[in-house]
Amino acid sequence: MFPNVRPRRLRRSGSIRSLVRETTLAPSDLILPLFFHETLDAPRPIATMPGVSQLPVSAAAAEARMAHEAGLGGVLLFGLPRTKDATGSSAYDPNGPVPRAVTVMKDVAPDLLVITDVCVDEYTDHGHCGILKPGPRGDLEVDNDATLEVLAKAALAHAKAGADVVAPSDMMDGRVGAIRKALDGEGFSETAILSYSVKYASSFYGPFRDAADCAPKFGDRAGYQMDPGNAREALREARLDEEEGADMLMVKPALPYLDVLTRVREATTLPLGAYNVSGEFAMIKAAAAAGMLDERRAVLELLTSIRRAGADFILTYHAHDAARWLR
Ligand code: PBG
Repeated sequence: MFPNVRPRRLRRSGSIRSLVRETTLAPSDLILPLFFHETLDAPRPIATMPGVSQLPVSAAAAEARMAHEAGLGGVLLFGLPRTKDATGSSAYDPNGPVPRAVTVMKDVAPDLLVITDVCVDEYTDHGHCGILKPGPRGDLEVDNDATLEVLAKAALAHAKAGADVVAPSDMMDGRVGAIRKALDGEGFSETAILSYSVKYASSFYGPFRDAADCAPKFGDRAGYQMDPGNAREALREARLDEEEGADMLMVKPALPYLDVLTRVREATTLPLGAYNVSGEFAMIKAAAAAGMLDERRAVLELLTSIRRAGADFILTYHAHDAARWLR
């Protein structure tokens, strides 16, 4: 005991702190989300996400080079299509913004890991993550099993374009199995699935819905995304996705769910990601712009906390800034 024991000895200098640091953070841990808009000719800034823009597909090559040169772990692509309809059929258009961007990015930077978000909410005119059908009282609800077909077709279109990993974010039951089957059936057994296994119905997606133009036109997503009060259910979702053939799992959002992240980490041996979502990003940006905190220190501390809680990798809009600060 004190005075023999003095934990501060290991905090005395940068060199000793660095030696005994338990959690590390590297650019290769970070995945940058990108939004490709089919009809844009120039980047269009997203008001609620300072420094983030919707991009024309013609920007894909430059984005791929930048991400590769920064040493990022990969990119995650979202698409904004020219046309939307009730079933989200543009989600599997082989000439849609995501397949086109994937092709260009893998051409110019073959070593850059390209992940695609698989969901229909950016492609449906009602903004829900599934196809709708009349419920028992005539009101509309999401048709789980009909949606699986569209998701499988979208994943296949992305795989055909050259995506390394497809990442379903819709929260339909059975989608990992349906996508795995569709990919294997067409010879894409090597394409990996990163499942948004544990995705909560969160207020922190607000800015993203501007970015991806996918806010639901009526109702909310509580009928398919998870209830924020539930943690045991997270383990169930993770287990089901693992059994259906997911190669990697994800918890989303990150910061309000670090406890869940730790529990899922302990329950699976699969690689685990966490999505530091748009609202988490916007909070930091707003506080930094108001002079309320030091952006660089805050971002690196938050990203470290997500790693410490159990994430192998982090999907984050701070990826380029953090990679620069870490160099
Ligand atoms: C759905 C999807 C969402 C996000 C990623 N994929 C939005 C939603 O579920 O409403 C949110 C990402 C973020 O907030 O940064 N395709």
